[in-house]
Amino acid sequence: MKTLLILIVFVSSFHFLFGDYFCKDRHTDDQLVKFHPLRHCQRSNKSIVAVEYFRTVKECAKFARENKALAFNFSPTKRGMINKFEKKNKTITHYNKNKSPSGKDIIEQSEEYYNCQILQCPELRNFSTLINDTRFDYYSAYVNPPPPENASCLPGVGMFIYYEKPENYSRAFNACREINSSLADILSDLRTSSLSQLMQSKFNSTHKEMAFVDLKEKEHNKTTLKSTFCTSYEYPLECYAYRAWSPGFPRRFKNTACVTITTTNSWKVVPCSLKQPFICELFPTGPNRTVSLAKKCSITRNNNP
Ligand SMILES: *[C@@H]1O[C@H](CO)[C@@H](O)[C@H](O)[C@H]1NC(C)=O
Ligand SMILES: *[C@@H]1O[C@H](CO)[C@@H](O)[C@H](O)[C@H]1NC(C)=O
Ligand SMILES: *[C@@H]1O[C@H](CO)[C@@H](O)[C@H](O)[C@H]1NC(C)=O
Ligand SMILES: *[C@@H]1O[C@H](CO)[C@@H](O)[C@H](O)[C@H]1NC(C)=O
Ligand SMILES: *[C@@H]1O[C@H](CO)[C@@H](O)[C@H](O)[C@H]1NC(C)=O
Ligand SMILES: *[C@@H]1O[C@H](CO)[C@@H](O)[C@H](O)[C@H]1NC(C)=O
Ligand SMILES: *[C@@H]1O[C@H](CO)[C@@H](O)[C@H](O)[C@H]1NC(C)=O
Ligand SMILES: *[C@@H]1O[C@H](CO)[C@@H](O)[C@H](O)[C@H]1NC(C)=O
Ligand SMILES: *[C@@H]1O[C@H](CO)[C@@H](O)[C@H](O)[C@H]1NC(C)=O
Ligand SMILES: *[C@@H]1O[C@H](CO)[C@@H](O)[C@H](O)[C@H]1NC(C)=O
Repeated sequence: MKTLLILIVFVSSFHFLFGDYFCKDRHTDDQLVKFHPLRHCQRSNKSIVAVEYFRTVKECAKFARENKALAFNFSPTKRGMINKFEKKNKTITHYNKNKSPSGKDIIEQSEEYYNCQILQCPELRNFSTLINDTRFDYYSAYVNPPPPENASCLPGVGMFIYYEKPENYSRAFNACREINSSLADILSDLRTSSLSQLMQSKFNSTHKEMAFVDLKEKEHNKTTLKSTFCTSYEYPLECYAYRAWSPGFPRRFKNTACVTITTTNSWKVVPCSLKQPFICELFPTGPNRTVSLAKKCSITRNNNP
């Protein structure tokens, strides 16, 4: 009984053992995503995933995490019901307070009824979809710096940059590192299908249909001829259940093999020395200490110096 208990404790704290590697709890994105304020007295007009009313910004952030949102707009209850920018413009479009909205209106006019709007994608560096609204502040998982304009948002997954200029694996790896990112993680169904769709959107006849991602052969065992694949964080593929190998893959080459994502929702290997386009995954960033939410919203002066 005691042994069993110890065994359970052991298994639950270390999960699985492969070779000499323990499959640790991999801190997946949604467990760790932190949101930071980025714009004061403004809200983003990016696609809304869901809306809700919460007393605190913490609850709104939790709701955002649970729904794999990458940003949200939150209106502190003290801020009042009226957007002073609209009031000044006299184009105020308030619904009748007694009449509840229905269907599409709930999302389209949700800022009139809900103080937490969670968003599929964050604002890019040019902030092109921000709207002045004294009721709200904008929070994002990508704050300091915000993602560049050439970043692609994959809803529920994260922010990525596709590099069309082919490079070998090590140069691709370094290019991602230089922008504080890493080659894209492909180790789930959603990740593989979303990244494959990104490939399709970039693909044209002059383009290669594959791109390097974050999975590389570690070694082959000369006796068993078995090869091990690892992420750049040294997580072995064996720690994951998900596979998307194209038929006939993985193949073995004389030299190390590196994994690519294809336009057809699958993985293939090529020699790491071969040049391929590649995809970097941006890490969430922040906080940006210059944002102060304590100040009163002004409709004349810039609220975000
Ligand atoms: C916000 O986005 C919606 C849908 O994309 C668009 O119809 C609307 O014009 C946008 N509003 C502003 C003020 O940009
Ligand atoms: C007032 O609102 C209208 C309609 O939303 C918009 O076209 C106009 O640019 C706004 N004017 C100012 C000064 O913000
Ligand atoms: C901001 O960047 C996006 C993505 O590249 C682009 O589509 C949009 O036109 C830019 N907006 C402005 C105002 O520069
Ligand atoms: C993305 O844009 C930045 C400038 O904002 C530029 O330095 C970089 O080379 C671009 N990357 C790609 C892959 O186009
Ligand atoms: C990468 O991170 C470092 C340290 O945080 C920062 O100084 C640098 O500006 C960042 N580079 C980019 C391209 O974001
Ligand atoms: C394919 O994409 C490349 C790079 O974006 C571009 O230079 C080329 O004109 C495109 N070709 C076609 C046929 O669209
Ligand atoms: C190769 O596999 C065999 C059988 O599993 C094992 O005994 C051997 O230690 C492995 N060699 C290396 C270099 O990992
Ligand atoms: C990639 O190219 C660089 C120089 O162009 C070279 O130093 C490096 O060894 C190459 N990496 C691989 C994996 O072939
Ligand atoms: C905070 O973000 C703004 C907008 O991106 C930027 O102009 C400012 O330099 C950032 N502040 C710091 C301390 O990085
Ligand atoms: C928001 O309001 C400020 C101050 O009136 C103004 O300078 C700025 O251009 C406005 N921004 C947008 C996106 O309407």
